[in-house]
Amino acid sequence: MPNIASSACAKLILLGEHAVVYGQPALAIPFSSQRIKATVEPLIGSPSGLIRIIAPQLGLDTPLEELSEDNLIAQALTLSLEALELTQRPTCVLRIHSSFPFASGLGSSAAITIAIARAISSFVGHPLPVEEVNAIAFKTEQLMHGNPSGIDNTVIAYERPLVFTKGFPVEFVTPGDTFHFIVADTGVKKSTALTVAQLAQHRLEHPQRVDSVILKIGNLVGVGSRALLSGDNVALGLAMTDNQGYLHELGLSSPELDTLINKALEAGSLGAKLTGGGQGGHMIALVNEADISTIQQALLDAGAKTIYTTRLEKA
Ligand code: MEV
Repeated sequence: MPNIASSACAKLILLGEHAVVYGQPALAIPFSSQRIKATVEPLIGSPSGLIRIIAPQLGLDTPLEELSEDNLIAQALTLSLEALELTQRPTCVLRIHSSFPFASGLGSSAAITIAIARAISSFVGHPLPVEEVNAIAFKTEQLMHGNPSGIDNTVIAYERPLVFTKGFPVEFVTPGDTFHFIVADTGVKKSTALTVAQLAQHRLEHPQRVDSVILKIGNLVGVGSRALLSGDNVALGLAMTDNQGYLHELGLSSPELDTLINKALEAGSLGAKLTGGGQGGHMIALVNEADISTIQQALLDAGAKTIYTTRLEKA
């Protein structure tokens, strides 16, 4: 069998994280320059069915059997092999490398699963269709996160901008203009499972207050996705900043995020907010192209650990 290399992109939520768990829509885009790569090579001379996993960033160099059952890579491999209905496991080495940090709002857990499902299925000569890869990643998200909406696996699997609402068909969106973004890392790692669970607890304690904020976030997603479609940078930026206000009210921001978001706005961003699970991880700012270097510098001066730029092209 030949060596196979597959990958999956990171993702950015422009509007609606957390509220999407409670049935509101959310707007997400692929972050295609940042990827998790999975390569599979035959393991010649090893016992049949042995799969060795090498993922230095996760401190792993181990046979599949030695991973605990709840390990994400073990889950991703097991579910992919089940979907392939193989009578015998392939004998191979699976290597995993990420260009972006884990547990920081960019969708690493869904991207790992999708890269693995694509690589192992191609290695055995039966590349799984996108719907199946997406379904496998939703299962691993459930195992890792408890109550995921499904937005991360969906935007990463399809690698297209979309509005996602739990239980409804995905709506792909075509940008009406080019949108430029700066993404900055606070350097603080935070588990999405934890922030989702915290909000669930907060909602139990204050159901009316939390639900009214969740509804307001959902309304902003409507405004923001129309702005994306019509190419209105200013309206999308305003919706992002308003969304940040609501996320802050729900306790999902952090001092590090607030600092970077405020600096980005002071330096001329059209809008800025946290992206993903919050309380750490990354922030995202929508910017005019001419202001990119000024805002990047302001973010670095304010303590951003890594800065990326990305853009959504007019279709
Ligand atoms: C995480 O990227 C997005 C959240 O809304 C969780 C989810 O939708 O599963 C925080």
